[in-house]
Amino acid sequence: MNAPDSLWFKNAVFYELPVRAFYDWNGDGIGDLRGLIDKLDYLQWLGVDCLWLLPFYPSPLRDDGYDIADFRSVDPDYGTLEDFRELLDEAHSRGMRVLADLVFNHTSDQHPWFQQSRSSPASPFRDWYVWSDDPRRFPDARVIFTDSEVSNWTWDPAANAYFWHRFYSHQPDLNFDNSAVRQAVMDVVFYWLDLGLDGFRCDAVPYLFERDGTNCENLPETHAFLQALRREVDARYGGARVLLAEANQWPSDVVRYFGQTGAAPGVAAAPEFHMAFHFPLMPRLFMAVRQEARRPIVDILTQTPAIPDNCQWGLFLRNHDELTLEMCTDEERDYMYYEYARDPRMKLNIGIRRRLAPIVENSRREIELMNVVLFSMPGAPIVYYGDEIGMGDNIYLSDRNGVRTPMQWNVDRNGGFSKAPPERLYAPLIQNPIYSFQAVNIERQFQDPNSLLNWMRTLIQLRHRNPIFGLGAIAFLAPANERVLVYLRRLPKSAAPADLPGARCVLVAANLSRSSQAVELDLSNFAGWTPHEMFGEVAFPAVTTTPYQLTLGPYGYFWFRLDPPGGQFE
Ligand code: GLC
Ligand code: CA
Repeated sequence: MNAPDSLWFKNAVFYELPVRAFYDWNGDGIGDLRGLIDKLDYLQWLGVDCLWLLPFYPSPLRDDGYDIADFRSVDPDYGTLEDFRELLDEAHSRGMRVLADLVFNHTSDQHPWFQQSRSSPASPFRDWYVWSDDPRRFPDARVIFTDSEVSNWTWDPAANAYFWHRFYSHQPDLNFDNSAVRQAVMDVVFYWLDLGLDGFRCDAVPYLFERDGTNCENLPETHAFLQALRREVDARYGGARVLLAEANQWPSDVVRYFGQTGAAPGVAAAPEFHMAFHFPLMPRLFMAVRQEARRPIVDILTQTPAIPDNCQWGLFLRNHDELTLEMCTDEERDYMYYEYARDPRMKLNIGIRRRLAPIVENSRREIELMNVVLFSMPGAPIVYYGDEIGMGDNIYLSDRNGVRTPMQWNVDRNGGFSKAPPERLYAPLIQNPIYSFQAVNIERQFQDPNSLLNWMRTLIQLRHRNPIFGLGAIAFLAPANERVLVYLRRLPKSAAPADLPGARCVLVAANLSRSSQAVELDLSNFAGWTPHEMFGEVAFPAVTTTPYQLTLGPYGYFWFRLDPPGGQFE
């Protein structure tokens, strides 16, 4: 899309979904691949360019599929490998791509590799996992699932040794020092790419290797493996497959996962991932809105190093996990808990397990504002299923299951998600008066021209028509009114093909506060230019050398295309 095909991801709109939660085709209470195929027309209508599927591999489901028991097939609950092939075909025929989640830091303890590994020290698989007699090794590695785990080591009576795990104690970490493990992981990657998959969202990549005297995160050895993986993927499949990193780290550490700018001390620069999530930005978007101050957003983006031109950030408001506060200071974290998780049930580990709409108390204005900011920042936006209609959550379900309830399609039984008896569903639908499927569903919002769903679709279309948002540079303005976030997106002619559609210069203004605000902007560099408000295609007064005045309603926003006099760009 307007970028060379190998850079398609730079301007794609992503949609994250658990197959289990989307649509149940065979009526057993569990969403499945055929159900997803049935709903591809909806996703195409919405304007989605690429799906990101949560893990669908056979799994005991003790971490919702992030505990994989077999890397090479589909869990029978979701269908067959044949269904998966058909999903790829059907998505591709609609111009949509598909990324799959792949977890290679660890496996389920039910994986045959682990079962053999623990069975005997003589097993050829013994060294596929990280065993030790001493559970005090690697003391500087933090525990991630703080609510359920006390240590990264668990005793295994069968093996008569401790095994290493960064997540649940049923998710033993693979031993990447073993070349057979590295090769096995690569083979899994090739297996799915050979089927026609467009790429992977790679889970938990900072934790692949362990070294004494370190916190066992972002190690040079990890970067070296990821570079080798990328090299193989490029060599075998050309450039259009995409690897997206889940590395919940500070910006200066995350950018190393793009590889090219110098991976890590001691590792030569070479490409790693095409994309990485911007984790630290996400909580700061929520913080800024609650504090009515632009500073958290400007600060974190100013601290974010530039990334290579052929890479992209993945930007999101919410996902399938808790709203993580790991990349926050203690003070910021306390603030976020106080503001957004007053009920202790809303907390999980170091985060807040709630969906977008309930976090902002179902404020349509805030939902729009946050999406407008997200969709106009440098990166590719990722929408979490259900957030396009403002779905609610269920904090009485355990772990992160409260944000993984069935998709709400219409007012029929089970919200149109499944024909099964309600008690057979993998999880109950949301029932409360504000967020129940009777009140919040796709069919209803599809028919209502003023719905959030139709607004989201307009936003996605605007984004598609203006590739500047994925390709242009960003510069913040510093108006005296701190409640208004203002930035310029620019695409110099030299950096963009002449036939690139859409705006070459965009001014974004976002009122982060609940009250109306006036703001004066110094736009003297643009004297003579005309702002066109992009949602309504309305011309505003031309810019002059005197301060440009704007007023914005509560949580109001503008996207202005700035047109130079005579319409000619330099
Ligand atoms: C990632 C996933 C999360 C999972 C964890 C362990 O953080 O997003 O859902 O529990 O990895 O695999
Ligand atoms: Ca089913």
